[in-house]
Amino acid sequence: MDFDQTLVRRYWHMLCHRRELPASGDYLRLETCIGDVVVFNDGKDLVVFDNRCAHRGALIFPGTDGNQPATCGYHGWTYSHGVVIVPERERFKGCDLSKARLNTFATDWCGDFLFFGAEPAQALYDQLADTAEILENISFNIDARHDVNEYIYECYWPLAIENALEPYHISLIHPQTLASLELEDGENTFTGRNSIWRAPVGNARLRKQLGNLKRFFNIDYGYEGYLSLYLFPFTMLSSTFGYSYSLQNFFPRDAAGKTTTFSSRLLTAATKDAQAAAVLTSFFSSTAKVNRKVFGEDHDVCKRMPRDAWNAEPLQFASEVEAKVQHFRESCRMHIDGMEA
Ligand code: FES
Ligand SMILES: [Fe+2]
Repeated sequence: MDFDQTLVRRYWHMLCHRRELPASGDYLRLETCIGDVVVFNDGKDLVVFDNRCAHRGALIFPGTDGNQPATCGYHGWTYSHGVVIVPERERFKGCDLSKARLNTFATDWCGDFLFFGAEPAQALYDQLADTAEILENISFNIDARHDVNEYIYECYWPLAIENALEPYHISLIHPQTLASLELEDGENTFTGRNSIWRAPVGNARLRKQLGNLKRFFNIDYGYEGYLSLYLFPFTMLSSTFGYSYSLQNFFPRDAAGKTTTFSSRLLTAATKDAQAAAVLTSFFSSTAKVNRKVFGEDHDVCKRMPRDAWNAEPLQFASEVEAKVQHFRESCRMHIDGMEA
């Protein structure tokens, strides 16, 4: 099996927050190089499976996200409350329908964040190392999802991850958006194969404006600056002041390494009351809009990175603000060594 596929199979991946799928029929789909991964609310539990119908393998959920019954459009098999409802059941005489079930993935929770794994090599909390406690705290402060944005990045996924791991490009690529925060150098923390960057907002006016919004929130955790948390191999979670979190997944998509499935969702923190929520609606909408612009800018530059611009060797010319890229490559080399062992 190759590098990308083993990374998908052997690691836990953050899939969603509990609050993203509150109602029966809510679903979310991610595309990966090993096929679809769908989480849906079956009226009883959140079920994570490969989007294939147990009857003859049709794809059940068609879109990126939405709400619909888990009914296969081919012959109408329906999956609900942990059971399969089969039309014209009496015609299935020579087989045991009680064996028909969905192909589910392993799942585990870190706080209210749901993770999935195909054949995870270690326990979730071992993989998350010191990020686990931070993630738990973040998860308990998230109240809802505001925005879903998924598209295909035209580059190999490690190039997109490395772009997200260094602030060196911010002034040139994001002059009107991220650069306006004037982020300071901040501090990197490395834990297992994951990394965290915390950077104070250097623009005093914006820092004050952001600080003033705190009174509208009901949160007991959040870094009052810019936080970017990277979970090896495919997930980034970033936030300004803990008011909202952008959850991004960059899954390998095709075997040639030409495209990446990029999925981002804006998760918003709990607000004080209904009045505060009304005040914050436009703030969250503008955050979503700015994030979309930032991702578009990142995509534009990632498109200019050919597949062979990436390998797992250390960067020959690395600035100090590219330390997380070096750490990512080291993690990749450790994974490759493990594959060969
Ligand atoms: S393939 Fe799904 S009901 Fe037949
Ligand atoms: Fe960027």
